[in-house]
Amino acid sequence: MRAAITATGHYVPPDVYPNAYFERNLDTTDAWIQSRTGIAERRFAATGATSDLIVPAAQRCLEGRGISPAAVDCVIVATMTPDRLCPSTAAIVQRKLGAVNAWGFDLAAACSGFVYGLVVATKMIESGAARSVLLCGADRMSSVVDAQDRATAVLFGDGAGVVLVEAADDESLGILDHVCHMDGEGETALHIPAGGSAQPASQHSVTHRQHYVVQDGPAVFRAAVVGMAEVTQEILKRNDLQQQDIAWLVPHQANRRIIEAVAKRLGVGLERVVLNLDRYGNTVAATIPIGLSEWNDAGRFAPGDRIVLSAFGAGFTAGSVYLRWAMKRP
Ligand code: COA
Repeated sequence: MRAAITATGHYVPPDVYPNAYFERNLDTTDAWIQSRTGIAERRFAATGATSDLIVPAAQRCLEGRGISPAAVDCVIVATMTPDRLCPSTAAIVQRKLGAVNAWGFDLAAACSGFVYGLVVATKMIESGAARSVLLCGADRMSSVVDAQDRATAVLFGDGAGVVLVEAADDESLGILDHVCHMDGEGETALHIPAGGSAQPASQHSVTHRQHYVVQDGPAVFRAAVVGMAEVTQEILKRNDLQQQDIAWLVPHQANRRIIEAVAKRLGVGLERVVLNLDRYGNTVAATIPIGLSEWNDAGRFAPGDRIVLSAFGAGFTAGSVYLRWAMKRP
């Protein structure tokens, strides 16, 4: 049995924070942020948790497919900003959504979370373990970003993207292959030092701002270009694909210069690259499903289009999925 994405939905909070907002609060400029990252604005949620970003995205996804939450077999939430350490955000989404027949779990792979989750969802459908998997990629990064650190504060945003994965009607379409890598040597290049079992929350950890994202930007930048290009080249080679066969490359949206460098290495023109980080910044596990949902809503994917998703993130983690678009234009 072949698995396919059969519905999409996304949600971003309404409050827009242009680069000018940071010019007022930090030693930075709109020109620096735009030229070094490609980001013009992002959304931050004023209230609520990651599950509150997911629920409206999931409702739109299920409405688009015309099924009720009760028809979902499994909820997977890819996130690095769970509502709480325990229980899983998937359990909270299940309740808020009314997906009363679903089981589910969270998946931690930071910016590669959606791609890893899509591999898991695909295997569940292929094996017959589930008929419908609601795969959510969502992060409320404003809850873990240090507003006083100009090197990270400007990069991230809040958002959620959701897809439904079910059996494909046409065996020639759907999710065809994947390549996933991991290199744990990257542990501290991008991490949140405290709050887990290695360093539980304490007065010291709060005073020393250790519950925020800490990043070695240039190291992550170099690793991201190489790592994303590697998984993408590997999947093209394995499937005997030339760059001209690819209708769309959907890369994780962290930095426009990373995306441009990867696209250049692959020989894919930017007119065939899904790009929305100018509007949302890096929404971590949400970037790829928000891109899929926006492009699908706009009718930019044609049935049968060969699409490659590519991600790189903390861990280090990297992953690529090759699929042929199985949905009709809206
Ligand atoms: N405004 C102005 N200057 C800033 C700044 C900001 N918001 N953030 C950093 N700088 C400064 C640095 O302090 C540094 O100054 P110095 O030379 O006096 O020390 C200078 O800009 C260059 O810093 P550097 O980190 O080398 O810049 P960069 O060109 O590598 O860009 C990132 C920084 C963070 C945009 C870039 O490294 C990046 O995108 N890395 C990957 C991030 C990522 O993708 N993370 C998610 C995981 S996929």
